[in-house]
Amino acid sequence: MTETKKFGFKLITTDGMARRGEINTPHGVVHTPAFMPVGTQATVKAMFTDHVRETGADVVLGNTYHLMLRPTAERVDRLGGLHKFMNWPHTILTDSGGFQVMSLAQLRKLDEDGVRFQSHIDGSKHHLTPERSVEIQGLLGSDIQMQLDECIKLPSPREEVQRAMELSLRWAERSRTQFDKMRGPGKGQGLYGIVQGGDVPELRIRSAEELAKLPMEGYSVGGLAVGEPQEVMLKMLDITTPVMPVDKPRYLMGVGTPDDLLESVKRGIDQFDCVMPTRAGRHGLAYTRFGKVNLKNARHQDDPRPLDEESACPATSTYSRAYLHHLFRAGEALSGMLLTWNNIAYYQTLMQGMRDAIEESRFEEFYAKTKEDWARGDI
Ligand code: GUN
Repeated sequence: MTETKKFGFKLITTDGMARRGEINTPHGVVHTPAFMPVGTQATVKAMFTDHVRETGADVVLGNTYHLMLRPTAERVDRLGGLHKFMNWPHTILTDSGGFQVMSLAQLRKLDEDGVRFQSHIDGSKHHLTPERSVEIQGLLGSDIQMQLDECIKLPSPREEVQRAMELSLRWAERSRTQFDKMRGPGKGQGLYGIVQGGDVPELRIRSAEELAKLPMEGYSVGGLAVGEPQEVMLKMLDITTPVMPVDKPRYLMGVGTPDDLLESVKRGIDQFDCVMPTRAGRHGLAYTRFGKVNLKNARHQDDPRPLDEESACPATSTYSRAYLHHLFRAGEALSGMLLTWNNIAYYQTLMQGMRDAIEESRFEEFYAKTKEDWARGDI
């Protein structure tokens, strides 16, 4: 008999609004709250997958938009799927493509059916619909798929926000129908709906409530960290998470700084992704327990201390700040590799700290101590 795999979420415990849980996918368990390093083009930039895993990551993110253009979803499928292709045997979540089309593609045209665009790589023409996005994510072999949605920048006129939110709801239904048609019994993958509604409380609530009527495996909050102040984002979470299903994972898309993660877990978010730790690492910036350290700065050139000698990450505890500064100044590839590794390790340590604190009912204490350490700064 073939084994039937089942997607599942178990809420283990809560502390205030903060939640500690486990997501079961065909490629393992995701301990939540979780940070998912971004692996847009089938690689977490400048990192070996073994190192990504060693930092404590249970899941990485891939992008429909990039992978459909190159090397194409059909090719990844022929080569055995994305897990095998990129040598990451653990959970993979894929974004649906809509967000990246809006920020990267040329000559975009969006209508009820989907979005037509030209590739930013070679100008070739493509048509992405909710159905095609689910099909591509299926070919990639993604464990956690996202519905196609429309994310608009803020500020935008209310009518625009409402139009995009309502379109995203209709696309959620079409995505669900396609997903159920394709999934076949026992594959165990999940599809998440995406809450939109910009910075309009009433639209956010309506989006979350309508989406909750669809039987999704999880629910995301999209359309945030798109130009609004942190205060607005947190206010939107304050009103949105209370109307999201309690028994399903909640994923805040494209967020954020370490402070954003701490504040959002406090408001009931379970999953995050962001390019910040990887991108910042390639630009000479390190995240540490005591805040950000800019390795570009000449003050590090004679400093023999590692970034944090207490860290379990070799990039953090072994190499001197003087060396990291030198590598960056010299334009060496190892600079981006070590700082990315440090940053992903720091983000995972922060998440582990939050998970432990929630389990031990001391999230508030952890929150206060973490903020205190960041405020102390790097000395
Ligand atoms: N990544 C960051 N924000 C969003 C969003 O609103 N939608 C999607 N699909 N991806 C995102």
